[in-house]
Amino acid sequence: MNDAIVIRYANVTKAFGRHVVLDDVSCAIRRNKITVIVGPSGVGKSVFIKHVVGLLKPDEGSVTVDGVEVTTLDGRGLYSLRKRFGMMFQDGALFDSMSVGENVAFPLVQHTRKPRAEIDRIVAEKLAAVGLPGIEYLFPSELSGGMRKRVGFARAIVLEPEIVLFDEPNSGLDPVMADAIDSLILRMQRELGITFLVISHDIASTRRIADDVGMLYNGRLVAFGPREKVMESGDPILRQFFSRTAEGPIRLV
Ligand SMILES: Nc1ncnc2c1ncn2[C@@H]1O[C@H](COP(=O)(O)OP(=O)(O)O)[C@@H](O)[C@H]1O
Ligand SMILES: [Mg+2]
Repeated sequence: MNDAIVIRYANVTKAFGRHVVLDDVSCAIRRNKITVIVGPSGVGKSVFIKHVVGLLKPDEGSVTVDGVEVTTLDGRGLYSLRKRFGMMFQDGALFDSMSVGENVAFPLVQHTRKPRAEIDRIVAEKLAAVGLPGIEYLFPSELSGGMRKRVGFARAIVLEPEIVLFDEPNSGLDPVMADAIDSLILRMQRELGITFLVISHDIASTRRIADDVGMLYNGRLVAFGPREKVMESGDPILRQFFSRTAEGPIRLV
């Protein structure tokens, strides 16, 4: 087992009916690094990331975390695997019947025996870290989309997990707030050594935070590697995507 690699995709193929979304995808996610997966809308980025924690299973190939194949895990195994992760999926909603404070506290209540006062202190600290101090008492219905996203972010990091999966953490945020979230990701990686696997369609953000970049296109991982190498590549698909132009081989459907 390679200690520098935490998650490994080996020849992963995934189809829904006849629609092949991932076609023979292989890559290695480095520990304590920030890996950003980019690609046009509907290309399979969310499908890709959900395989890591067994929310989807590959038709062929394997996904391993620290050498353990995720599909071999039973309910209990999946539970302990997921405990190591902080997750925010695109459709990952907050619990509407719970206040913001209860939402963010939820993983702490579920997975730790910390006393209430400490839980409250950690929740306050994480809400402040995402730029939303003192909103514990509000309910999700009282928040804007961007605020809900940031509360979801606070909930995902509240356990200071080993690995964080983020599906488009910046979407729907204004540039200032998106930049603040990027700073938080960088700080958590540097100070806590957290591994991040992030889906993004924000090129400026990718340029700022990524150690490694992967690009999904037409079911294939057409590029994967160190940020400069992928983002400065002369490949026409990559060049078109990163320069955000409609001219080029990527067809807009
Ligand atoms: N559970 C599912 N059942 C059927 N089709 C799905 C399912 N999840 C995703 N898809 C399809 O897979 C494709 C990729 O979706 P997705 O990963 O959400 O794209 P994106 O890159 O925008 O995140 C889409 O065509 C979507 O409709
Ligand atoms: Mg998606």
